[in-house]
Amino acid sequence: MTNAVSSRTLEEMVSYYGARAHEYDDWWYRRGRYDRNAEDTARWHTEVKELYAVFDSLSLGGDVLELAPGTGTWTQRLVRTARSVTAVDASPAMIELNRANVRDERVTYVIADLFAWEPERAYDAVCFGFWLSHVPVERLDDFLETIAKALRPGGDLFFADSLTESTALHDNRRVPGAGSQVMARTLADGREYQIVKNYHDSSALSARFARAGLDVPVRQTATYFQYGTGVHTRHVK
Ligand SMILES: C[S@@+](CC[C@H](N)C(=O)[O-])C[C@H]1O[C@@H](n2cnc3c(N)ncnc32)[C@H](O)[C@@H]1O
Repeated sequence: MTNAVSSRTLEEMVSYYGARAHEYDDWWYRRGRYDRNAEDTARWHTEVKELYAVFDSLSLGGDVLELAPGTGTWTQRLVRTARSVTAVDASPAMIELNRANVRDERVTYVIADLFAWEPERAYDAVCFGFWLSHVPVERLDDFLETIAKALRPGGDLFFADSLTESTALHDNRRVPGAGSQVMARTLADGREYQIVKNYHDSSALSARFARAGLDVPVRQTATYFQYGTGVHTRHVK
């Protein structure tokens, strides 16, 4: 039995990402404390290339919704193929970095809490990188229903996330205890925050997507990442 996450922890997670925004990319590019040894770092970059290849092969087009875009890792690639991107994130600091990194007027930024936000329309594609693991398990089905509402039937989906803690350990985190989805994370200056982090079994996650009408096979790279590509297969009321 997993304990439900408090609204205070969800707010703390937004504060954490706001405070981490300027150092966030060190994680993705394996700089500083994330560059633990040459072998792990090389493997990480190889698997990032694999993710990019999957993402690029989708050529997500039309009007695309990106949830929790952060500094713009995926936004930068989306603007190569999309007609427009609507990017929804709770952190103004993240949005500002994204705007500076992407610099494309076809991106509309929305500052909103994804646990309260509702889509105003159905998009041609939906993308969320390293967000699903931050959704509390008791909110996962509601979140996937929101995705189904936000995606037109036949629309495409891409998500990527962390695979498991045991293979992605580095110095800024402590693993949650049994029955907890809450993990302590520290910034480079030592400040500590409580955030949500869930690692999903790939086939169980695929089944959860299917319940929301989303046909999303979930796959993984050798060590670090889980990802899914798929389509919306049914109309949602
Ligand atoms: C792990 S980062 C992912 C960033 C980016 N998608 C990537 O792949 O690198 C998580 C993002 O979720 C955002 N976030 C955290 N809580 C949120 C909430 N309640 N509503 C909307 N965004 C939130 C953070 O500001 C941050 O940009």
